[in-house]
Amino acid sequence: MVYLYDDQLIMLFNNKTIHLEDSLIHIGTGAIKELNNYLKHYKNNKKVKFFILVDENSIKYCLPLLVNQVKILNRAEIIEVESGENNKNIHVCIELWQTLSKYEANRKSVFINLGGGVICDMGGFVASVFKRGIEFIHIPTTLLAQVDASIGGKLGVNLDLIKNEIGLFKNPSQVIVYPWFLKTLGKREFLSGFAEIIKHALIADTTYWKKILKTKLSDETEILKLIHHSIEIKQAIVQKDSKEQNQRKLLNFGHTIGHALESYFLEKKEITLLHGEAIAAGMICESYISYKKNKLSRADLQEITLFINSLYKPITFKKEEEIRLVELMRHDKKNEGNDINFTLLLKIGKAEFNKTGSVELIRDSFKYYHEQYKLQKV
Ligand code: GLY
Repeated sequence: MVYLYDDQLIMLFNNKTIHLEDSLIHIGTGAIKELNNYLKHYKNNKKVKFFILVDENSIKYCLPLLVNQVKILNRAEIIEVESGENNKNIHVCIELWQTLSKYEANRKSVFINLGGGVICDMGGFVASVFKRGIEFIHIPTTLLAQVDASIGGKLGVNLDLIKNEIGLFKNPSQVIVYPWFLKTLGKREFLSGFAEIIKHALIADTTYWKKILKTKLSDETEILKLIHHSIEIKQAIVQKDSKEQNQRKLLNFGHTIGHALESYFLEKKEITLLHGEAIAAGMICESYISYKKNKLSRADLQEITLFINSLYKPITFKKEEEIRLVELMRHDKKNEGNDINFTLLLKIGKAEFNKTGSVELIRDSFKYYHEQYKLQKV
């Protein structure tokens, strides 16, 4: 555990509530209190059943605190699944639906997702189609889930190796962003989430980028402010285009290549790559494509590359593996026709969607990515 939040420091950050369509996002130490208030109206209705989806980490590090502070959840059934992207699939969903049936969940039941991106994506999906949809609440416990996966209603699972191929858009009734849970993260997990914060700055906010460059990752109050601002950026984009017809595609920066890397290493099984680690590499490659194809300046490209490389370890793959990576990119939901679709940067803080990139340019971007690491090592 590296990020120890001092409760007094956290008090310096006022609790915030953000509205996003039909859901409320509570951020801060007061978020748990908000959940308590919200669930109060179920107190006298003993028929309402609660289910909490956890993995082996959130059951150990987060569930005790949750049920201790939200007493009504003592009556919840706890359902545990194994963590990891490879468990985000339809087979696990079937087991979850069977469990819900066995415990007689009904339309009035409330399903709570306590965990990271996998738990929120899959748990939300399971709840939103069970009996044509039951209420669900996200309690994201990782930085990645707090700033990205729990916000904006994208739910779903992977199909074989294709990321998020099955799913739908539906908002949770509440999102509880409680900073204390970040205490339970290791450095790698923390950095994985930080990649999405970097993305938010790159696509939407130059001043935010400058702030991020100066932020010490061990500064809890500053990190909390970043979480809040990142959620605000995502909320503003999703509010305009919840179904990803246009604007929301901005949030896919780094993800065309990032998702292919993630799927490839899932398939290869030799090393586990966290989502944000893949996206960090994807952002360098797609910044290079932005430099070559769009208007991103050389200076901006260098600033992005240096910053990301200073935080993340290189992902190595050979030239012959690039063919498979490109093949995986072709499965991306964002593609139309034969071209591979990208969101590209115009400058730091401004991006454009529906841009295309050739296979040659993608392979050049891999070359750039590998060369930059070597240069930095010298
Ligand atoms: N993670 C990108 C989105 O929610 O649209």
